[in-house]
Amino acid sequence: MKLESRVLHVLERIGIRRGHTVLDLGCGSGTYTIPAAKIVGEQGRVYALDKDKEALDELMQKAEATGLRNIERMETSGKLEIALTDESVDVVLLFDVFHFYYFPQASDRRRLLGEIYRIMKPSAFMSVWPKHMKSETEDEIKNADFHLEADLFAMLVHEDRDLEEGKILNFRKGSRNKDKH
Ligand SMILES: C[S@@+](CC[C@H](N)C(=O)[O-])C[C@H]1O[C@@H](n2cnc3c(N)ncnc32)[C@H](O)[C@@H]1O
Repeated sequence: MKLESRVLHVLERIGIRRGHTVLDLGCGSGTYTIPAAKIVGEQGRVYALDKDKEALDELMQKAEATGLRNIERMETSGKLEIALTDESVDVVLLFDVFHFYYFPQASDRRRLLGEIYRIMKPSAFMSVWPKHMKSETEDEIKNADFHLEADLFAMLVHEDRDLEEGKILNFRKGSRNKDKH
């Protein structure tokens, strides 16, 4: 199976659907952004946020070559604010980015989670590939008022080329109990 077909399959399994608005935070050159844009289609949108301008250039070239017009480039200096309005996205992808290498300070990780929470619709989910993540970061996510809804094992693409098995964690806003009422 081609790498992109595998990624499409994984993104469908985690719950991305036609019409969704997705934020791919730390998207790199678009291993997950391009397939996500194909799934959400013309009615949907994928925000591609990264501090690496060259990776974003590469991503946008791929998008153009594929004829995709639903990807919005979002360049950042690495600051922890996300230039999107409150409760505006259905899905946040946090793949291989929420770890100590990029966010060494716990206060920065907290702030980033606060921003993600702010921009997520009440029905949204955040999908995390905890590659390189330490075990305590899962607790940090829960302490930021998310709950783990599901985890699934999948074959994932690392650095745009290597296939490896990994676990994806899907979080929703609020505590699990709040959902039941
Ligand atoms: C290891 S790559 C993962 C890329 C992609 N998510 C994937 O799984 O293929 C991590 C990416 O996060 C980006 N990144 C790190 N810190 C960031 C920040 N504060 N804001 C935006 N992007 C950031 C890096 O530039 C890099 O492109």
